This record gives sequence, structure tokens and C-alpha cells, in this order.
Amino acid sequence: MRFSWPLTACVLLNPGLASATPEFSALGALLDLISSVLEKSSPATSLTPTNPSTYWYESISHNGISPVAPNGTTWPVFRDVKATYGAWGDGEHDDTEALQNAINAGNSYANRSSNSLGTTGQPAVVYLPKGEYLVESPIQFFVGMILMGDPTDPPTIKASANFSGDYMIYAKDPSQDSTTNFFVGMKNVVIDSQAFDKDKNLTLVDWSVSQACQLANVRFDMPYDSTGHVGIDMPQGGSALIMEDLYFHGGRTGLILNNQQYHLKGLTFDGCTTGILVQHLFMGHCQACSFSLCGIGVDTSSPTSGVESLGTFILTDAIADNTGALVNTAATNGSFGSLVLENVRVDEATVSSTVTADGEVVLKGSVAQDHAWVRGNSYSPSGPGSGVLRVPGTMYQTKRSASLVDDAGSFHRFAPPTYAGYDVSQFVNVKDVADHPVAGDGKADDTAGLQAIIDRYAGDKIVFFPYGIYLVTDTLKFPPGSRVFGEAWAAISATGDRFINAGEPIPMIKVGEPGDVGVAQFSDLLFTVEDVLPGCTLLEVNMAGTHPGDVGFWNTHFRVGGAADSQTQKKCGAGVTTDPGDCKAAFMMAHFTDSSSSYVDNMWGEHPLPFPSVNVANMECLTDKQPAWTADHDLDGSGNNATNPQYVSVGRGVLIESTKPSWFVGLGSEHNTLYEVNIHDASNVFIGFQQSETPYWQGTNSTQLAPAPWAPLALPSDPDFSWCAGDEAQCRMSLYQTITKSTNLSLYAGGFWTFFNANEACEDACQDDAVRIDGDASTGVYYFGIGVNNVRNMVVRAGEALVEAVDNEGGWKANVAAYLANIGS
Ligand SMILES: *[C@@H]1O[C@H](CO)[C@@H](O)[C@H](O)[C@H]1NC(C)=O
Ligand SMILES: *[C@@H]1O[C@H](CO)[C@@H](O)[C@H](O)[C@H]1NC(C)=O
Ligand SMILES: *[C@@H]1O[C@H](CO)[C@@H](O)[C@H](O)[C@H]1NC(C)=O
Ligand SMILES: *[C@@H]1O[C@H](CO)[C@@H](O)[C@H](O)[C@H]1NC(C)=O
Ligand SMILES: *[C@@H]1O[C@H](CO)[C@@H](O)[C@H](O)[C@H]1NC(C)=O
Ligand SMILES: *[C@@H]1O[C@H](CO)[C@@H](O)[C@H](O)[C@H]1NC(C)=O
Ligand SMILES: *[C@@H]1O[C@H](CO)[C@@H](O)[C@H](O)[C@H]1NC(C)=O
Ligand SMILES: *[C@@H]1O[C@H](CO)[C@@H](O)[C@H](O)[C@H]1NC(C)=O
Repeated sequence: MRFSWPLTACVLLNPGLASATPEFSALGALLDLISSVLEKSSPATSLTPTNPSTYWYESISHNGISPVAPNGTTWPVFRDVKATYGAWGDGEHDDTEALQNAINAGNSYANRSSNSLGTTGQPAVVYLPKGEYLVESPIQFFVGMILMGDPTDPPTIKASANFSGDYMIYAKDPSQDSTTNFFVGMKNVVIDSQAFDKDKNLTLVDWSVSQACQLANVRFDMPYDSTGHVGIDMPQGGSALIMEDLYFHGGRTGLILNNQQYHLKGLTFDGCTTGILVQHLFMGHCQACSFSLCGIGVDTSSPTSGVESLGTFILTDAIADNTGALVNTAATNGSFGSLVLENVRVDEATVSSTVTADGEVVLKGSVAQDHAWVRGNSYSPSGPGSGVLRVPGTMYQTKRSASLVDDAGSFHRFAPPTYAGYDVSQFVNVKDVADHPVAGDGKADDTAGLQAIIDRYAGDKIVFFPYGIYLVTDTLKFPPGSRVFGEAWAAISATGDRFINAGEPIPMIKVGEPGDVGVAQFSDLLFTVEDVLPGCTLLEVNMAGTHPGDVGFWNTHFRVGGAADSQTQKKCGAGVTTDPGDCKAAFMMAHFTDSSSSYVDNMWGEHPLPFPSVNVANMECLTDKQPAWTADHDLDGSGNNATNPQYVSVGRGVLIESTKPSWFVGLGSEHNTLYEVNIHDASNVFIGFQQSETPYWQGTNSTQLAPAPWAPLALPSDPDFSWCAGDEAQCRMSLYQTITKSTNLSLYAGGFWTFFNANEACEDACQDDAVRIDGDASTGVYYFGIGVNNVRNMVVRAGEALVEAVDNEGGWKANVAAYLANIGS
């Protein structure tokens, strides 16, 4: 959005001057942007910013609990490192121990460092008031926590000159594999290594984590001309979704990527020798990234496991100034290491070498807003049906719906709200409203209390949910004027008979009635189910905003099963049943209806599925996973063994029927039965990234072949799998995307990964179809970056396998840079 780029407005001619002007432009711009969004919100609201000097979250009452932990009412969710844990924050005393104590603290039953409470039992917000926190040795994070600074004056974590260690912060919980490190967050802080020898190796953050994590609004301050400092790396990999609004200053490398996939939004690299070093990545999208005074912006030329492991890397709405080459890649062709550049502006200093491949310049100059430069495999308008076209670098004309973009033609984007402009008196804590008691304890029915509070304060106050599990037995309706902020993914969880009829599904969270226009914003929440509820749609959005971003979801996830707070964990676990038909745990994750217009940023929805070779031993004491997810394992298995298999079946993932503009920036949808994402009768939709997996229990030898166990089908949008023979198990698997009767779609970066058949490891041909799109009924579809693992047909168009994996080897298994066969005339 109006992050008026160039972010670093100055085009510096002398790199030496840059260090003299280290203003925190990213944060400042974020705050401006947030208040401008709010100021332009619903005219009905009386909520106007008052710009207090103390952050509301610091002074609001802190009464969050951990409902699933023994003695959980004494569990400290909020941890103020200064007020409670003795940090000085003066830049002189060593605060390492105080910070670590604040992270580790628990109650009489357990500390967080022991991991005996799983992922969901040990919620923590480690809060840093303004100040400078000196550290002399590394800080270790654990799952289920957010490290959060005061956004009104972001605190600094500063390495001492004699810092001892290779990393300042290890964000990865050592008791979990990187791919199951869920629910870790860090925001509103500055990490500063400038006092440390610039030529010694030091990495500021090890971010080897996965979905349902949040890294947002962080500045990495490193020395210029450093040969040793790195902002972020991920040596142990991970399966992540998004990082956003980060500012890297100086250093040898800003960001080293070693992950399955990533959406990078609003990253600024200022004076880094290399901005982004891609070591290993099957699919990546860098949206609105800017590079200033960097030797190389993005380097994909020397992946650690060979160029074959690189899929497509996409740059949209990017800017480069005084940078050697925006992208440096290897001299490959075909689908390995594919590149897409769309709406990329470079200055005079960068113009002669926008993309270099093995030392040769393959692209000079800028790429216009309505063009995409593609290097890789492309299915272009001239060739539908005629097979793959390998392009070493070709310019295509593109078109974005005017409704999706700002004045500069870039896709709108909105930072996660902090509400830093509002005083604590402009908030209401749902557990502090005397005449409407709310427990959040995972036991009491909070429906009536929450509904009364939501209705009373709509338009007047921001509604704060301290960490807890808020059970609801009926639909919770959010009217225009709703702003909701959760603490460490506070959970709203459905239960009861109202949600059990798959023939008459109802939403748990309903945002507006059809036709409503106004504000409804949700941050840091988890939507889940407490029981097996075949008639529950977790989220239904009907509302549109007056402005883009008025209706939005940030860092808000779905989880169905796989956690200690839900009976699904027992009812759908191995030892009780191995039939997903017994565990139709939810009807649908999310439905964006035709009257809605929403901005979705960092949303993961899945339900736990059985991991193959699972441990059934630890069924009792567990927590949940939180992103939009149908459980594929038990998040709360004790110790290192969070692998209790889960035979959960959620009917549908995300149904998009919106016709007003909608943005999905970092969307994960996993393990749902009929489809992961269904774009049906929709128009003006942007997807920046979609990461998905099918249910592990589907495929050959599965007892349930789609649409089972959800037949008879309930919705006209449901795929019926009539194109498959009755016993074709690999055909009857969840579609990663189905697109019907839809127009004006800007789709980027699909990462569609299949691993199992009937819970047994499977290789190569494990699923027939990834994307199914109709023929000429869907037009204006611009699709860049489709990657698959173990799927035969990447795109089936009008019933014909147009894009096949066998023609597009590269990335995890197969990969295409551009699909332009449905752009229409
Ligand atoms: C819970 O707290 C009570 C009272 O402090 C204590 O006696 C008991 O041992 C605690 N239980 C656990 C499991 O920590
Ligand atoms: C938690 O850690 C503190 C400090 O190390 C220790 O004194 C306490 O016994 C630990 N508590 C539990 C329940 O392990
Ligand atoms: C760093 O230096 C301070 C002051 O001399 C000293 O107290 C501290 O122990 C040193 N820390 C390390 C990690 O060497
Ligand atoms: C510093 O890191 C670089 C890049 O990984 C490596 O080549 C070098 O050996 C490291 N130096 C030391 C002293 O570890
Ligand atoms: C590109 O790839 C094709 C197919 O693998 C190969 O035949 C051709 O030599 C390659 N061209 C270049 C310039 O590397
Ligand atoms: C598609 O986008 C174009 C260009 O912005 C616009 O004129 C047209 O109305 C859009 N179509 C629909 C169905 O919204
Ligand atoms: C995990 O579970 C498996 C299967 O039950 C068991 O063999 C293994 O010892 C367990 N590992 C740990 C660390 O408890
Ligand atoms: C299906 O089950 C049979 C019998 O157990 C087994 O031999 C076969 O490998 C399985 N097929 C797959 C794809 O898992």
C-alpha cells in the first residue's frame, strides 16, 4: 500500500554516507501506513488515534492463562523483561540472562525450556519495552512464543563487542525438527551487531522455523563493508510461509534462504554486500522488495544442493538503486532456477545489469508494470496445448485488475496492525467486562459474553483477547467496526450440537452480513474446533471495506485437530480409529463470499494428519498446532515425539467467491479433503503465495476416495471428481487449486507438495492433478510460479492435462515459471 517506495528515498552516490543516515524508515512508514488505514476506516467509527507515548499492550491488564497446562491459571503469558525479569535495557549491563529467564519462565509444573507442555501449552509473549538490551551470548527461543517490542519506539537487542557465539538469537526450538517448529514470532525490534568486529562471523538470527510463525517489522543493523555478518539464515531448513516488513542494513548478506518456500513481503536491503542469498528454495516470491547500495540484490547462482533444487523465484513491485546486479543467476535453461520479474524498477546505476547469468547480462533496464520477464518454462497464449516453451528470457505483456493495485500500480499491501497509535483506554480486554463474564478457559461457554462485548464496542474500542481458549457454541458475529487483537494466537474454538450437521453448516466466526461495508480487522488469533464438527465452517467473511485493508486478517490461523485443546486429538487418533470418515472434524476452513473484500496476510489453515511412522504413545497430554491447518501430527506430543497420527478430515480448505478485490498474501492451506483452495465465480483476486499439501491418508490404498467421506456434496462449488474412474485413488485426491468461472486473477507462487499415499511414503507419481482450471470460462488469469512434488499433472485445463510434470523437471520435482493459457483475449 502506500509504503511510498522507494523506501530508502535517497539515491546515495557515496556508499560511505549511508551509515550516517540510519533512520528507521521501514518502521516509520509502517506506522504512517497503519494510521492512514485506520483514519480512512468506516465513518461510523469514533475510534481515532491519540498517539500515546506508552504502548497499549504494555499497560493493559494481563490475565491470559494456559488452559491446557497443569495449574495453567498461574501460567505467565505476558513477560515484561524489564518489570519482571530484571533487564536493564540501558545498553550497558548484560541483559542476556534476564531475556532468557523471561523466555524460559513457567509455573510450578514446568518451565518452557523443558518442552513438556507441547506446542500449545506454553504460550508466551516476551515483551521488550523501549530500551537497548545488551547481549553477550545467544538467546534461545521455544515454540509457542512471540518476542515483541514496543512499536512506538522499537527496542534494540545489541550484541556486545565481546559477544561469544555464532548467533545472537536461535529462534528454532531445539526440541523440534525445523519443519514442526510452529508458532514462533518476533516483531517490532531492532537487532544490532554493529559493535561486533565486522570481519568476524556473526549471524543475527537462526530462523529455521515453519508455518504459523511471524517475523515482521524487524530491523537488522549490521556494519557496512562487513565480511562476516549475516542478518538471517536457516541452516536447518524449514517449511515457512512468509516474512514481512524487514529492513537489513549493512552486513555480508541480509538474508540466506534455505527452506521449502517463502513469501517475502516488503523487505528492504540497504548496503548489504548480497541482499538475498538463495541456497535452497523450491518456490519464492519477493513482493515489494527494495535493494539499495547492494553488490548483488538476489543471488541464486550457487545453490548448495545444485541448481536442480531451485524452483521459481519471483520479484514483483521491486526496486533497485546503486546495486551491482539485481539478480545474479546461473547459466541454466529449462525449469531449473526459473526467474520472473514483473514491475521492477532499476535506477541508472543498475540499469545495465538487471539480471546476470554466469557473468553474462541477460536483462538490462526496468520491467514495466504491465510486463513480466520470464526465464524458465512458460505456457504462453500462443501455445496452449502445444507443450512447454522454454524461454531463456522473454518479456510478456500482463494485466492487473485496477482494483488490486495502488497508484503506482503495485499490489496493495498492509503491515500487520500494532494499533500503536491508540491509547490503552481505547481497548477492551474481553475478560474485564464485569457484566459479561468471559473465561477463555477452554471449558466455559463464552458465546453470549463475547457476542455482547463485540456488539457493544464495535466502532468504539479495539477488542483484546488475552491468551486463552474461548469456547463458542454458536456463531460469533462481528459487525462493521470490529477490531480484534489476540495475544500469542489466542484461540476461538467451536463446540456443540449447532455445528454437527454437515447438511446445514454454519460459521463459527461470521464477519458481517452480505452487503455490509465497514472495518473488521483480526490479528494474532487462532480459529479451531474443540470437537469433531462436520457442520462447522470456521470463518465466513461477507464484509467489504470502504478502502483496501479495512477488512483484514494478519497472523491469524486455523487449526483443526492435533492439539491438546480438542477432543479430535483423542477421537481421531490412532488406536481409536484409522478412518477419516469417523473424523469429519470441520466442514470448511474459510469462505470468502461474493460480497466480501478482504486482505489476508500470513494465514495458515490445516488440520492435523497422521504422519507416517507415527508414535501413538503420547496421546494424552498435548497442545495444538495453530496455522490454518488440518492436523497431520500431534503438536502436543511430549518431548521430541509430537507425531501421534491424526485421521482428521476437513471437508474443504479455502473457498474464494469474492468479486470485489481480495488479497491473499502468504496463504497456507493443508490436508483438506476436496480442495485446498477453490476459486469459484470470483474476480479480482491476488494470491501472493499458496503453500499446500493434500491429506496424508489419501491416495492408493486409502479407505476414503474423494469426494468421500464428504459425499453427498453440499455446495455447487464442490468438485465432484466425476472425471475420475471410481477406483482411481490418485485421481480422487484433494485439488490444490480449482478455478472455475473466474476472471482477473493475479496468482503467484503455488507450492503444492504431495508426500504420502494412505500414510505410506510415496515418490514421484502419488497424485494425478494439482490445479484444475476450466477453459475459456476463466479469463484474465496471470499465473507465475507453479511447483509440485510427486504430482503428475500440474495444470489440467478444460479437462486436458496441459502442463505435465514430466515436461518440467526442476524445483522439488517439477516447476513452471509462467502459465498464461487462460489470459483470454
Ligand atoms: C498446582 O498448584 C498447587 C498449589 O500451589 C500445588 O500444590 C500443586 O503441586 C501444583 N500442581 C502441579 C502439577 O504443579
Ligand atoms: C524453572 O526454572 C527455575 C530456574 O532455573 C528453577 O528454579 C525451577 O525449579 C524450575 N521449575 C520447574 C517446574 O522445573
Ligand atoms: C565481556 O566484557 C565484560 C566487561 O569486560 C565482561 O564482564 C564479560 O564477562 C565479557 N563477556 C564475555 C562473553 O566475554
Ligand atoms: C565465516 O563464514 C564464511 C561463509 O560461510 C566461511 O567461508 C568462513 O570460513 C567463516 N569463517 C570462520 C572463521 O568461521
Ligand atoms: C538448454 O537445455 C536443453 C535441454 O536440456 C539443452 O539441449 C540445451 O543445450 C541447453 N542450452 C543451453 C544454452 O544451455
Ligand atoms: C477486470 O479488470 C479490469 C481492469 O482493471 C476491469 O476493467 C474489469 O472491470 C475487471 N473485471 C471484473 C469482472 O471485475
Ligand atoms: C517416539 O515414539 C516412537 C514410537 O512409539 C518410539 O519408538 C520412540 O522411542 C519415541 N521417541 C522418544 C524420544 O520418545
Ligand atoms: C498398497 O497396499 C499393498 C498391500 O499392503 C502394498 O503392497 C502396496 O505397496 C500399497 N501401495 C501403495 C502405493 O502404498
